[in-house]
Amino acid sequence: MEISIARAQLSELSDTSVVAFAFEDEPRFDASVTALDAKLDGAISHLSDSKEIKGKFREMTVVRSGKVRVIVVGAGKRKEFSIDRYRSIVAEASRRARHLEAPSVAFSVGKAVGLPAEESATACVEGILLGLYRFDKYKSKSEDKEEKEDFPKSCVLAVEDDKEVAPAEKGKKRGTVLAESTNFARDLVNEPANVMTPTAFAESAKGVAQKSGLEITIFDKEEIEAMGMGAFLSVARGSRQPPKLVVLKYNGGGPNAFTFAIVGKGVTFDSGGISIKPSENMHYMTGDMAGAAACLGAIQAIAALGLPLRVIAVMPLSENLPDGNASKPGDIVTTHSGKTIEIINTDAEGRLLLADALGYVCEMPVHAVVDLATLTGAIGIALGHVTTGVFSTSEKLLEEIKKAANDSDERVWPMPLYKEYTLQVKGALADLKNTGGRYGGACTAAAFLKEFVGEIPWAHLDIAGTSSIESDKTPFEEHPYLPKSGATGVGVRLVYYLAERLSRMKSLEG
Ligand code: BES
Ligand code: MN
Ligand code: ZN
Repeated sequence: MEISIARAQLSELSDTSVVAFAFEDEPRFDASVTALDAKLDGAISHLSDSKEIKGKFREMTVVRSGKVRVIVVGAGKRKEFSIDRYRSIVAEASRRARHLEAPSVAFSVGKAVGLPAEESATACVEGILLGLYRFDKYKSKSEDKEEKEDFPKSCVLAVEDDKEVAPAEKGKKRGTVLAESTNFARDLVNEPANVMTPTAFAESAKGVAQKSGLEITIFDKEEIEAMGMGAFLSVARGSRQPPKLVVLKYNGGGPNAFTFAIVGKGVTFDSGGISIKPSENMHYMTGDMAGAAACLGAIQAIAALGLPLRVIAVMPLSENLPDGNASKPGDIVTTHSGKTIEIINTDAEGRLLLADALGYVCEMPVHAVVDLATLTGAIGIALGHVTTGVFSTSEKLLEEIKKAANDSDERVWPMPLYKEYTLQVKGALADLKNTGGRYGGACTAAAFLKEFVGEIPWAHLDIAGTSSIESDKTPFEEHPYLPKSGATGVGVRLVYYLAERLSRMKSLEG
């Protein structure tokens, strides 16, 4: 996809389809659309007068006259208009353009749509690239595939003012990196488990490291053993696929730069192990490495945009399968930190590999740690596919995460880490046990992780509900740059914006 910035009115552009926004309230159209309407002999305003165009959010009308084609997309009520809605309708219009096999599409950016040039250019490119995402590499033929693969081939972001060109270019760069990194994470999550093994994931990480100039270390099973990561290893025991621990480092900023650690759960398939899951929804567990995928996407984006901070990304990768050699309920393991864990349920495996990964990274001189994990079904019950649950030991870090959620339009909601939840995971025979019962499942899982982070400001993002969408249509309906089903790539843009904020600080204290 070729994306360019033009200083032009929509009505001045030729050889391209153009996208016009219609609002639900008066004035329905902005000046740029009025000029376009004149070129079409008032066809757009006629449709508006006859109420065929109402301007309802995501409504779509294609108007054609001779060589001029306009995709009129509803922007909803003016007071509800936002960067997120703009990103959304750009996504809808882009998909329509693909359906129409339009070689080129132009969008208004900046003042012409009443938004800041840089932010709207970012959102526009995200809308295009996230909205056009699909995962159909394993389909030899499908309705979608029959639509010519690569339409539209190019997009134009039109700004009204010369002064908007430079910020639009900056926004375009950021939008391209963020959307490509998100789509990369979506691909990793959507890949089936027979392809996306721990080894294959580690190879992908190697590719990112090479392309982005990151330091990478891939620890194999023997090295993980030597590091005393008994909890992590216990998850891998039942699998023929060897576990991997991937550590990536990005060194931006000077010697006093903020050091930010991110940790991602990388279970490439979670059958539950000996505590095996029911088979009905088990195939969704190919996405149990979405935390690791978000980490990899985020560090790639941070490096590509050259943020001035240091980032350490840690990804423990394993399958969780039953076997004669697999961990059994009742087994006791010793973690990297020395704490012992009684495995009550082998399906609570995420917290086992995260215990070791968090313990490992918290020995390093880092200013903040954030983990992303598809940790509990309970968070999905609590918050649905809509909102990521965030647990934090630091009010300051939580505040920055909320702001980053605002920047990225990825929703988060704070969840509690009260002492009572910790009591629920105290072990009978060992220091801890890996389940705290059905009630408060997401909270007891987070309380368990907390035992491995010490004093470093830490936040845990439980993305089990938000990392993929199955049946619920509501996230797509409000944010149609998300897929209708499959991986969302959640976390990549959120963590990027968090890093952008942290890079402006020396530590969370000052
Ligand atoms: N990977 C699952 C959590 C999950 C569930 C992710 C649904 C995405 C969708 C996790 O490893 C798990 O199995 N958690 C158990 C914990 C329980 C055994 C304490 C759960 O949530 O049921
Ligand atoms: Mn599990
Ligand atoms: Zn899992």
